[in-house]
Amino acid sequence: MSSDQKKRIAEIRAQALDLTDTIKTLSELGEFRVRFLGRKSELTSILRSLKDLPEEERREVGKAANTLYREIEEALDFREKSLESMPSELTLDVTRPGIRPRIGAAHPTTKILESFEEVFTSMGFEVVEGPEVETDYYNFEALNIPKGHPARDMWDTFYLESPEAIQDKAQSSELRAQGEKERLLLRTHTSPVQVRVMEQRKPPIRIIVPGRVYRHENEDATHSAMFYQVEGLLVDEGITFAHLKATLMYAFRLILGEDRIFRFRPSFFPFTEPSAEVDVRCEYCEGTGCETCRGKGWLELLGAGMVHPNVLKKVGYDPDTVSGFAFGAGPDRIAMKKYGFTDIRMLYKNDLRFLSQFI
Ligand code: PHE
Repeated sequence: MSSDQKKRIAEIRAQALDLTDTIKTLSELGEFRVRFLGRKSELTSILRSLKDLPEEERREVGKAANTLYREIEEALDFREKSLESMPSELTLDVTRPGIRPRIGAAHPTTKILESFEEVFTSMGFEVVEGPEVETDYYNFEALNIPKGHPARDMWDTFYLESPEAIQDKAQSSELRAQGEKERLLLRTHTSPVQVRVMEQRKPPIRIIVPGRVYRHENEDATHSAMFYQVEGLLVDEGITFAHLKATLMYAFRLILGEDRIFRFRPSFFPFTEPSAEVDVRCEYCEGTGCETCRGKGWLELLGAGMVHPNVLKKVGYDPDTVSGFAFGAGPDRIAMKKYGFTDIRMLYKNDLRFLSQFI
């Protein structure tokens, strides 16, 4: 008799514990509880009949039955908790489609920067970065823009130290001049990285420098106080303006499109001579003038030129043996042209309604 009951307990155990995982709803769970633990369940009747068993058996069977009762209770409590925390549609209908996750995309400026990197690295250029907090020396002096030079007006600068603080620190006029060179500012262009790299290496040099730059300007649709630039620099023996022209035309046809038309206009930068600005013909009006190009027929792409001998001398190069070209382009503006939007500030507002269009 008792071995029969122990066998039954083992069978009930196998059946009940196997089944708890298949319970799908709370009402199923209730039925299950009644069936295995209820007043009319087999386990309850075994417990009830314990008193009729001889002492020895009563202890053994009683222990097994009580343990199983508690085990089933625990398994059901556990199942109940997991059912409660499960989203109901999953328990009701596993074939319903899931929630589509939002997929991110590269920022439009990043896309343009990546195409620069791809095109220029394929021509043997290396991608280099430099600090956004610069000194007066690298941002201006070494680029042939001495203190007090009117060309400094081309770059409205965020200074991180006041002139008074610099003066106070220095006791002698020599120290003061030194202090002024080290005055910290937010770089107004990526050109200081030209100097940093040339100081550390010997020609040949072929680099591009993507990065953020800062200008103390009022923001409007075409101006942002922080924006991006890509600097390019190539220095070697016998480099001429023809190399600059050929390199830029090749690169920009790849970046903007094979059939684009470019023009070089004479310009001025203190650190290049001769200097030029490069425009691309407006693709919307084909040069006749429209809203996008503000009636000009052309859109400005970049500033460029042959590295000024004074800049080469400052880094210890001999301008009679080596020469180079440099350019600085605005990837934000190029993104605006490529994707056809007219407010540069959209790039820095983190508005997903705008950004998610570039996926
Ligand atoms: N640094 C210049 C600017 O920000 C652009 C430039 C770079 C021009 C290199 C010539 C050569 O306006």
